[in-house]
Amino acid sequence: MTAPPIAVVTNIFRPLSTPAESIAALSWLVVGVCLAIFLVVAGLLAYTVVRFRRPAVDLDREPAQVYGSSQIEIAWTVIPILIVIVLTMATARVITEVQDRPRPEDALTVRVIGHQWWWEIRYPSLGVVTANELHIPVSTSSNQRPTFLQLDSVDVAHSFWVPQLAGKTDLIPNHPNWMWIEPKVEGTYIGNCAEFCGLQHANMLIRVVVESEDAFSQWIAHQKTNPPAGQPGEKLFLGLSCVNCHTVAGTSAKGTFGPDLTHLMSRQTLGSGVMSNTSDNLRHWIRDPQTVKPGNLMPNMQLSDREVDQVRDYLMTLE
Ligand code: CUA
Repeated sequence: MTAPPIAVVTNIFRPLSTPAESIAALSWLVVGVCLAIFLVVAGLLAYTVVRFRRPAVDLDREPAQVYGSSQIEIAWTVIPILIVIVLTMATARVITEVQDRPRPEDALTVRVIGHQWWWEIRYPSLGVVTANELHIPVSTSSNQRPTFLQLDSVDVAHSFWVPQLAGKTDLIPNHPNWMWIEPKVEGTYIGNCAEFCGLQHANMLIRVVVESEDAFSQWIAHQKTNPPAGQPGEKLFLGLSCVNCHTVAGTSAKGTFGPDLTHLMSRQTLGSGVMSNTSDNLRHWIRDPQTVKPGNLMPNMQLSDREVDQVRDYLMTLE
């Protein structure tokens, strides 16, 4: 049985991070100016249509003919120029603010690496590797904590987009891109890959978990631990070809093609957001990932029912 898909709630109209807020404010300015222009033009047009419509009687008389008006021509040349200057300057200011954010010495840097179709997440300075769920500290007025993301791809172009946090930035193979986010409200933010990258592009969800400084430190400390060794099912798992693609820290599983499983059960979803991370769903995924997310790189391992259960039970210990 396939679990129902997880709802994606993304809202560009509720920005909660500095770059997204600046971009939204600029958008509203542009919408406001365009709306004012529309109202003036449409209003004048409507007025003219009504005021100068053909009268019901006296059909033969020509209305007064007017040729040219310097004042009006100057007005409709100068006003648009002023509007364009204002919009250009406002846009340049936001672009500078987003692109040239100075990076504080102690800023958190995270590498986000796009794969078909999941996100590898590495904290190089902290020695933590995870997937699909990016944990970062909240930024407050007393403790500003912007997070800088180095974006890479191992295969095709992807795009990192969490609408409430920032605009999109592409992940291009062999061309690291940078972006930063600075959420001011704790919570879980959902985004998606925003560059078509193949069959499961729509199922390449990302979660950003924004938490207090303390909770973030605890999360990091926990992610750095190795899972307890000698769990039931561990031997079977390590004897299967799972280990060629997946890593479980402290074991012989050191593959890097697939997501790091060291703390698999600390994540909310499986398959980059395709379903919630429950015991039943995990079993379903191990049995045949291709029915859950067709085209993904994990093959059906042709395990027996008993083996599927054992591998599932072992993975469930990877908290
Ligand atoms: Cu990755 Cu679309």
